[in-house]
Amino acid sequence: MVSRIIPVDAFDLVVFGATGDLASRKIFPALYKRLLAGQVPADARVIGLARAAHTPEAFRHQLAASIRAHVGTAVDEACLARFVSQVDYLQLDVLGEAGWAELVARLGEHGARIRVFYLSVAPGLFSPICDRLWRHGITTVQSRIVAEKPFGHDFESARALNLHLAAHFAESQLYRIDHYLGKETVQNLMAIRFANALFEPLWNARFVDHVQITVAETIGVEGRGEYYDHAGALRDMVQNHLMQLLCLIAMEPPSRFAPDPVRDEKLKVIRAIEPFDAERVREDTVRGQYRAGADVPSYADDIGRTGSRTESFVAMKLRIANWRWSGTPFYLRTGKRLRARFSEIAVAFREVPHSVFAQTVSRLPANVLVIRLQPDEGITLRMTIKEPGPGGMRLMEVPLDMSFAEALVGKGLHMPDAYERLLMDIVRGDQTLFMRGDEVEAAWAWVDPIAAAWELDRRQPQPYDPGTSGPDDALMLMHRDNRRWRGIGE
Ligand code: BG6
Repeated sequence: MVSRIIPVDAFDLVVFGATGDLASRKIFPALYKRLLAGQVPADARVIGLARAAHTPEAFRHQLAASIRAHVGTAVDEACLARFVSQVDYLQLDVLGEAGWAELVARLGEHGARIRVFYLSVAPGLFSPICDRLWRHGITTVQSRIVAEKPFGHDFESARALNLHLAAHFAESQLYRIDHYLGKETVQNLMAIRFANALFEPLWNARFVDHVQITVAETIGVEGRGEYYDHAGALRDMVQNHLMQLLCLIAMEPPSRFAPDPVRDEKLKVIRAIEPFDAERVREDTVRGQYRAGADVPSYADDIGRTGSRTESFVAMKLRIANWRWSGTPFYLRTGKRLRARFSEIAVAFREVPHSVFAQTVSRLPANVLVIRLQPDEGITLRMTIKEPGPGGMRLMEVPLDMSFAEALVGKGLHMPDAYERLLMDIVRGDQTLFMRGDEVEAAWAWVDPIAAAWELDRRQPQPYDPGTSGPDDALMLMHRDNRRWRGIGE
């Protein structure tokens, strides 16, 4: 079975922030890969916009070099040459009024074509850019606006941004990116749940003891100190990526795999998460900040100042107040400079109601379904079987293990980068894997009281050593419930 590539319609893609980190590392390499796969038509056009005074030639040259550096495999030089030939560059200060007429001219008379405006810039520039696009008559009914995260800093700012965008564009034109939704394994959560009859009947508080979601990173704040220190792990990761994972695990089956049915169900989950008051924040959340290690700087060194109370690690326990999940806690944790780059979701089932092996086995291990998101994407179901050999009934735990990479070998399939999928969905006009405005607002509305309680709490986040699982209190969060986190990267 070889994957079928269906070319998308011709499009013009305008990338604001074309010389920035995200564009060079993710957006352009993803486009190149889709072109290589035969999905990008020969008459698609890309216009990079930034403040730097490059000629289109110099930009193409720089772009080719950065694609070679970031694409992860050897590039196909002929394809790369074709790709950069489809790319143009325009110097533009988005806060000024000059240059927009030139953008109109470059886009030319192709009003009926799909136009994608990708805002790969600081969120403060979203509104000014959209105003100018509108004022200069650049957007058409076929236009799409793509907004990178962070989408707001809190509920108020997200709502203000949504209202601002709504003044110029229909919701169906807005693509708010959470790149986790573009990851193959994250989409697979929906396939596992809704394309297999096996799990769904057990997917509720009656059979599930608890769920653990871990997104661990080894990197520190990596030169993004100014942004990160203002955000912290709660805003940078929990409000969006972990929240989306939680939604996909906890949501009701949508009637169809289509934008609104899926997003309606996710929204219901977010709205059903029990809100935190100051006491719950104290009891059920843990904040950490990494210390210096043998060969890595501390958080304070990374951001260039001491005394910051911003968390680089969060762990929390939350509850979803609905029929399906009442009685099943969800434990979330994410942090930087941890032991391994490792993301997984573990659905821990309850023990069997009665053991028929009580004479020989004191306690039966419960089943755990582990969905590994990265690296080594795959699924493991921990099962209990008889230990082979004579001499009575002894039991042992074994993994039923499936690595997607192995499962796909020889099938001509590969795991595309999240941005490859998301970019093609934008061109196709499919919003299923993008966040709707009300979803983003609801996520902020839930996060804001936690951020506010931490703001009032003058204590420093707990220090933790690089290369560990985070602060000890995070372990306690589960120990006190007689549960334990799965090891990170073990
Ligand atoms: C980004 C965060 O959204 O996601 C970063 O801003 C984080 O801080 C990154 O490192 C993690 O993404 P991935 O795809 O590497 O897991």
